Amino acid sequence: MEIPTHVAIIMDGNGRWAQERGLKRSEGHKEGGKTLEKLLMHAKKCGIKYLSVYAFSTDNFKRSQEEVDYLMNLLIYYFKTKLQTLCKDDIKVVFSGRREPLKEEVLKEMDNITDKTKDNKTCLLNICLNYGAQEEIVDASLKVAEDIENGTLKKEDLTRDNFYRYLYQDLPPIDLLIRTGKEHRLSNFMLYQAFYAEIYFVDTYFPDFLEDDLDKALAYYGNRDRRFGL
Ligand code: IPE
Ligand code: IPE
Ligand code: MG
Repeated sequence: MEIPTHVAIIMDGNGRWAQERGLKRSEGHKEGGKTLEKLLMHAKKCGIKYLSVYAFSTDNFKRSQEEVDYLMNLLIYYFKTKLQTLCKDDIKVVFSGRREPLKEEVLKEMDNITDKTKDNKTCLLNICLNYGAQEEIVDASLKVAEDIENGTLKKEDLTRDNFYRYLYQDLPPIDLLIRTGKEHRLSNFMLYQAFYAEIYFVDTYFPDFLEDDLDKALAYYGNRDRRFGL
């Protein structure tokens, strides 16, 4: 079966998972974190080279201060405690998103994990944190304008392929895009990179989306006929 090079996951439904169990939304986020750990190991085992995950959108700052703080602290906890495992498993971590208005303590851990895992090769984990796809395209356009202005790039040399270099991370396009949690929308996620992605929507809330579910998504991908406009 053909394994996708780049898999992306919109990890949605943590809040509803918790609410349906009479728990606080934060319990759903905590459980979602454990799920991501399992999926990352499984993705690596399956031979997936690039895994992008939507951890926090620019629009998620509209949520209550309590929920935002919980999520940021959860991220810091993971960055601090999982570094050794990531290194042992040869996983490289990169981030996509704007730095503003993330707090210094989050940025510090992000920079640390990026630096400590930069030479790892087996699998790349792209964490989209304070990420928005329209923001990414706007930010990339500004960098393009800058390069044209300073002479690094000729206008006529800009193509849809080399535009990737101006995005937050220069990754291959997404082959398989998974969204858990019942909604059928993109919510401002990787619009440029998903241009020919096979899209897999699944009702399962993210905390319950485990190894078997990823296998099903991969089987779905394996059965697609990708024509790319041919
Ligand atoms: C996804 O779960 C995680 C984040 C957005 C951080 P949600 O928190 O959106 O959960 P639902 O969609 O409200 O159930
Ligand atoms: C998308 O989920 C963001 C993440 C999974 C981090 P949302 O829950 O924020 O998306 P909407 O509001 O349902 O579109
Ligand atoms: Mg949601």
